[in-house]
This record gives sequence, C-alpha cells and structure tokens, in this order.
Amino acid sequence: MAALYGLPGDMHHTYIDLHQAYGDTVRIGPNCVSLAGLSARAAIYGISRPIFPKSDFYLPSQASIAGKTYTNLFNTTGEDFHTAIKRPVSRAYAMTTLLEYESFVDAVTKTLLRQLVIRYTNTRSYESKCHLDRWLKYYAYDVVGQITFGQSLGFLELGPDAEPVISQLRPPRLGIAVSQMPNLYQMVLKPLRKWTRQTPPTSPVVEFTVARMKDRAATGTKDSHDQRDMLSRFLKAQKDQPDLIDDVRVTSYATSNVNASADTTAITLCAAFYYLLKNPATMKELEEEIIGAAEAGKISSPCVSWTEAQKLPYLDAVIKEALRMHPAVGMMLERVTPPEGVTIYGRFYPGGTLLGISPWVIARDRVIYGDDADQWRPERWLTGDADRQSKMAGASLTFGGGTRTCIGKNISLLELYKVIPAIIQMFDVSLVKPKDEWRTVNEFLVSQEGLEVDIKRRS
Ligand code: HEM
Repeated sequence: MAALYGLPGDMHHTYIDLHQAYGDTVRIGPNCVSLAGLSARAAIYGISRPIFPKSDFYLPSQASIAGKTYTNLFNTTGEDFHTAIKRPVSRAYAMTTLLEYESFVDAVTKTLLRQLVIRYTNTRSYESKCHLDRWLKYYAYDVVGQITFGQSLGFLELGPDAEPVISQLRPPRLGIAVSQMPNLYQMVLKPLRKWTRQTPPTSPVVEFTVARMKDRAATGTKDSHDQRDMLSRFLKAQKDQPDLIDDVRVTSYATSNVNASADTTAITLCAAFYYLLKNPATMKELEEEIIGAAEAGKISSPCVSWTEAQKLPYLDAVIKEALRMHPAVGMMLERVTPPEGVTIYGRFYPGGTLLGISPWVIARDRVIYGDDADQWRPERWLTGDADRQSKMAGASLTFGGGTRTCIGKNISLLELYKVIPAIIQMFDVSLVKPKDEWRTVNEFLVSQEGLEVDIKRRS
C-alpha cells in the first residue's frame, strides 16, 4: 500500500496522516512498521550496538559500472563493508577539509548571480519570469561537479537547456515505488536481468566520472594529488589502499556525490526561498540582517564566507527551519531489527522486522517542536534554553541518523549558508503569484509552474 502511495510523490504526507490517526506505531506492510517519536529514533538510529542495518529497500538504487552491479556508501546493506569503504574517504567530507573548497563554491555562486543578472534584471534581459527552483537546481549540480571533479557540470551556463540532461540523472519514480517492494526486485527484476545478461543501466553521471578519471590518468595527475578536488582525494585513497579501492570504487565515490547531493540540496534551497517568500515578515527579518551586516562591513560581497555566515543568527534559524519544514528525503529510512529482536513502545519485534521513521514524521512531532510544529517559524531556533535547542537539532532525521548519517551534510551546509545571503544581498525577490492555496512547497515542486519569481537588482 505504501508503494501505491509513493507513486504520486506524496508519501511523506501519508506517513504523517497515518501517525496522526494511529499513533506512534503503524504497520505499513506484512513485515514493516513505521514508527514515530524520540524513543524509536534512539532505538533504530542510535550509534551504540546493536546497529540496525539498512534493509533491501536500498537495493534497487544500485547502478552499474563497467558492466558490474555495485554497491556504494549509500546503498550497501553490509555495515562492516560500509565502515571499510567509508573510512578512507571520510576526511574528505569534514568541514575543515571542505573549507578548502570555498573558492569552488564562490566561483559557481558568481556564475549563478551573473546568469540571474543577465537573464532577468538587465534592461536588455531576454527572459521575463524567473523559475528560481530551476536555477537553484542547476547551482546545486554545478557546485557538486566543481567540488568533486574540479569542473562544474555547466548547467548554469546552459540554463533551461540543461533540463533534458538533468531528467536523465534523476531516479525514475517507478524506481522509488520498487524500492518499497524489494521482494519484487529480488524475485522478478534481478533474475530477469541475469537471464537477459543485463545489468542496471549505466547513468550519464557514471560516464562523466569515468571520462574525468581517464583525463586524470592521461594528464598524469592520478597520483600527484595536486588538484585538491574530491576525485584527487579518492585517487589518493586508492593509491594508499589499492586492494580495497579499485577504479570502480573510485567511480562509485564520485557518482554517489552527484546522485545524492544535487536534488537534496536544491530542494532544501527551494524550500527556504518558498517559505521566506510566503512569509514576508521572515524574509524582511533576514534581508535586514544580511544587508545590515553588509553595510557594516561584516560580510563580504557578493560571496559571503562560511565564517562570516556563522555570525548571522537569523540566517542560521532560517536554514534550520527549512531543513525541518521540508526534509529532502520523505520516505521512511528503513532498517532491519537485529537477530535478538527489539522492544519499542512495549511491543516486541523479532529479528528481521523492517522498522523505520520518515524524516517528515519526526519533523512534525509536537512533543519535540511544540504545538506549532506544522508552521514555518524560524524564531523557534532563537528562543528557549540550550537544552531545548539541542533536543530539537538532535531529533532531526533530515540528514539521516547513526552510522548512516549523510556524509555530504557539510557540503550542503556550505552551499546553503553561502548562496542564500549571496542572492539576498544582490536581489529583491518576490513571488509572481502568491498562491495561498498551496498546501506545501511540495505541491509547486511537482507542479509545472515551479517557483516563479520576480527578481530586481538592489540599488
Ligand atoms: C540538504 C542536502 C542533503 C540531504 C537532506 C541529505 C539527506 C541524506 C539522508 C537522509 C541520508 C541517509 C539516508 C538513509 O539513511 O537512508 C543521506 C545519506 C547520504 N548522503 Fe546525503 N543529503 C544531502 C546532501 C548530500 C550531499 C551534498 C552529498 C555528497 C556530496 C550526500 C551524500 C550522501 C551519501 C554518500 C550518503 C550515504 C552515507 C552513508 O550511508 O554513509 N548527501 N543523505
């Protein structure tokens, strides 16, 4: 049933509705239970042993490299294997390392600003209405390309002409429904592939990555580590541990970056602008903070540094609230109970039961976020004592939890904290048609209309 709900793209609302109707524990499949609340979160995604491994839900997301199906950091269900392949690259994702990439992010940010100026704010501009959601998506793809390969994917330069390429990069909606029925995948699709000797299709991202690796090999930079992008770090890890990290593994590190990062970061950026535009008082507050800081010489222009952005408390509150209001992942993060089973909320689940929580369910939990948990209110992150603040932050599943927490969280934070003030410093953005009837940001994200805005250059 959950799979059928998944097809229209509104599964996150279905989970919330089910938990509102039936409480903390909702059985959604023969062996599958959706849970809510902090105790369940601690039991399933806590970092102490036993770790609940990922379920077969993740198998259909496997791709093919050089004709071989492979598992990556995101979709492997083996915890030991996960630890082994994560260890050699985890430092590449630490914030201290990422700050070396600030100039990469700034370069892409400047391209975004330039495109917006040329296309929408000049007297000779050739496009009237700006679909901000699309530009934020091109931006997120180009940043991850720049950080991973030292080369942007060129989507900002292409503008709307990038759409056909991007549509090939996204997982098909049917694939999402299949992830809810892994037995179908195991029983039908996998044997069928074996029988027809087919592997999952190679994606354009894999092809792009393989081409970049060939460039590196040809130009001799494979071993020298002189280009400090992520690919060079992955190649360095390969040099240190050739038995563990072959060329396919290097490709998988790089492709996971692109596949897992662009849509998620773009959705979060889009949600932030959507809620700010729908709630002008919060936009005004943020504008005053950013423009005031610029006038006082406290932040750089047009690109704000990460360190400067950390001193903008309202920006911080807006980003936390956007991540809470619209987690990019709406499906339940499915895990398998360990062999000895587990008891949660007085109910025993034997080993092999599928349990999980949707990041949306925890984000709307009134016990954690208060009675106005359904509402956009960045101020919730500026009031209350430190304990409450850390309880709210620690409850979030927007970036997942436990050993499988998003490895790219810092990359997306770097983008969010830098590009929002850059856009607001330069432009006055307003919604073309305020649509009060939109229930959530999701409804315009899936609509053809998109986040249509007017942008004017600030004087
Ligand atoms: C706002 C942006 C992002 C959000 C909301 C997000 C969300 C998530 C979530 C919820 C998970 C856990 C999935 C699960 O338990 O099933 C995850 C894992 C992962 N994410 Fe992200 N992500 C974001 C950005 C990124 C970026 C920028 C990258 C890489 C450049 C990335 C790479 C990954 C990888 C490789 C994993 C698997 C980690 C592991 O299991 O060790 N993500 N992400």
